[in-house]
Amino acid sequence: MSNAIYVGIDLGGTAIKVGICDQSGKLLHTYEGPTGPRENGEEIAARMEQYVRKLVADTSYSMDQVSGVGAGIPGFLDTATGVVISSPNIPGFKNFPLKDILEAKLQKTVMINNDANVAALGEAWGGAGKGISDLVCYTLGTGVGGGIIIGGKILTGFTGMAGELGHMQLIPDIEAIACGCGHKGCLETVSSATGVIRMAKEAIERGEQTELSMVNDIQAKDVFDAAKAGDETALRIVHRAALYLGKSMAMLSIVVNPQRFILGGGMSKAGDILFQPIYEAYEKYSLPTSRQNVDIVPALLGNDAGVVGAAGLIISS
Ligand code: BGC
Repeated sequence: MSNAIYVGIDLGGTAIKVGICDQSGKLLHTYEGPTGPRENGEEIAARMEQYVRKLVADTSYSMDQVSGVGAGIPGFLDTATGVVISSPNIPGFKNFPLKDILEAKLQKTVMINNDANVAALGEAWGGAGKGISDLVCYTLGTGVGGGIIIGGKILTGFTGMAGELGHMQLIPDIEAIACGCGHKGCLETVSSATGVIRMAKEAIERGEQTELSMVNDIQAKDVFDAAKAGDETALRIVHRAALYLGKSMAMLSIVVNPQRFILGGGMSKAGDILFQPIYEAYEKYSLPTSRQNVDIVPALLGNDAGVVGAAGLIISS
C-alpha cells in the first residue's frame, strides 16, 4: 500500500488518545477525547471508532491508507483472541470481544495488547529505553501499569499477565484498601494518580491543615504542586506513593535485574519531588549489586508512548 499509515489507540481511564504513525513509528497526528462512562464497554468501543475516524478525516490521509489499528488496553487480556477478560478501572469490559467489535466497526485489522506493555514497547523503540535491552516501564495514571522488557523482548509470561505491577500487594494489611482488581493493598491503590487523589481527600476529611483543602476537584498535580511548596500533608502523600514504587523496583531488581526503570503516565511529570523519594526507597530496599549503574528516569515519549507503541503492534506484525 503506498503511503500506508498506522493508527494507534491508547485507552485510558479518562481519555482515549489516538494517533497516526508512519512506517518508521514517527507520530504524525494525534487526537484525544473523553473515555466516557467506564461502565459501558459498547460506548467506549464506539468512541474509539469515532475518534479514529475523526483523526483520519482531519488529515490529508484517508481510511484506505490505514494499514491496521493497534490498541493499548488497561487490563487483563487474551491477546490472541482480542478479548478483554477484565479491567480494574474499566468495569464495562468483562469478557469483551474488543478486537472483533473494532474490526467490524473500522473494517481494518485490529491488534490489542496491554496499555502498559505497549507504552514500554514505545519507550524501548523510540524513547527513554532506546538501546537498552533490559528495562521496566511503569505507567502512573488512573492505575499503575507495567511493562517488562528483557533481552529486548516484552515479557508476557504464561497467560500474558507478566508485568501487572500495579497489582503487587505491597501495602501492609492494616493499611490496605480495596483495589479494582478485587484484591486489597495493591500498589495502584496508593501509587496511582487515583491513589494520590484519594489520600488527599481522606486527609482533608480528617481535618488535616493543608492547602489542598482550598482546591476544588483535586488532581494529582495539585498534590505534587503543594508538596513542592512544602505542604506537609502533600509531602507525606507523595512520599507514601514513592515509598511503595521504590520498594517494588527493589523487588524487581532482585527478580529481573533491569538496567533502567522508566516512569510514564501523567504523574511522571512531577519531577524530583517524586523521583527523589522513589530513588531513596529503591536504594534502601535493593541489593547494592543489583542496583549498580541502574537509573530511574521519566518516559521520553510522555503521553505519546501509548499511541506510538500501539501503532507499533501493527508496524512490527
Ligand atoms: C491494569 C493494568 C493497566 C494499568 C494501567 C491496571 O489497573 O490492571 O492492566 O496496565 O492499570 O492502565
